[in-house]
Amino acid sequence: MKIGIIGAGNIGAILARKLGAAGHEIKLANSKGPESIRDLAAEVGATAMTKEDAVTGVDTVILSIPFSAYRDLAGLFEDVPDNVVVVDTSNYYPFRDGAISDVDGGKPEAVWVTEQIKRPIIKAWNAVLAATLAEKGVEKSQPGRIALPVAGDDLEKKSLVMQLVEATGFDALDAGGLVTSWRQQPGTLAYCTELTAGELQSALEKADKIRSAGNREALVKVFMEKGSSLTHDDIVAQNRAGTA
Ligand SMILES: NC(=O)c1ccc[n+]([C@@H]2O[C@H](COP(=O)([O-])OP(=O)(O)OC[C@H]3O[C@@H](n4cnc5c(N)ncnc54)[C@H](OP(=O)(O)O)[C@@H]3O)[C@@H](O)[C@H]2O)c1
Repeated sequence: MKIGIIGAGNIGAILARKLGAAGHEIKLANSKGPESIRDLAAEVGATAMTKEDAVTGVDTVILSIPFSAYRDLAGLFEDVPDNVVVVDTSNYYPFRDGAISDVDGGKPEAVWVTEQIKRPIIKAWNAVLAATLAEKGVEKSQPGRIALPVAGDDLEKKSLVMQLVEATGFDALDAGGLVTSWRQQPGTLAYCTELTAGELQSALEKADKIRSAGNREALVKVFMEKGSSLTHDDIVAQNRAGTA
């Protein structure tokens, strides 16, 4: 499959490497332009290009950019055929992205993104820490395999994205449509907590929309206070404790 990835940071670069290794042809883009990621692209087995070129002639586009940057992508998909699958890995953090009143008011992040880019998306790989994505993917047969939620309204496109998630080393769990995708946003038990499929299903069912934004802010405070003294396992444990 031909895949364009926009965003060559923590998540975009790992996805480029993993999906390239799984046999897909990867185009990689960022905001600064192809020259700035030429070496990275070569290292992960992708081809660096502009974002306009990265959405042209591909089967799937993966967006992995800061939440506030989606406003810059208005118009990018105007000439992209409807059958191209658009995946989004983003999460909203007000301290980083600036306050967005619609989302603060309860609009699911994925719905807001869809409105900015004027294309329905499939939400995937948003609820996994970069270090988990890089290091904890395993073969399907292995016990205790971590599961990731995948939300979206188009069942055929969601099924295809679930196959891509599996190819990165994780069980893919159908988490429903975009309107209920708040169940996998920051501040919920499904978010970056390294759960197995059964545990994740239960976490999605128990998610509490009212509490999630408060949980998110409390966790940000802890992470800012403790900073680099936290290990990866500490972060996962903190995410679980702060959302249980
Ligand atoms: N890090 C994690 O553990 C993690 C886990 C799950 C989900 N996420 C979410 O996934 C998204 C990406 O996270 P990240 O940690 O990979 O971010 P990151 O390391 O900061 O990388 C962001 C990438 O997006 C590019 N970008 C920014 N604005 C752009 C624009 N207008 N057009 C095209 N490219 C643009 C940047 O390119 P330039 O450098 O050229 O500006 C950079 O390559 C975020 O929404 C984040 O919340 C992150």
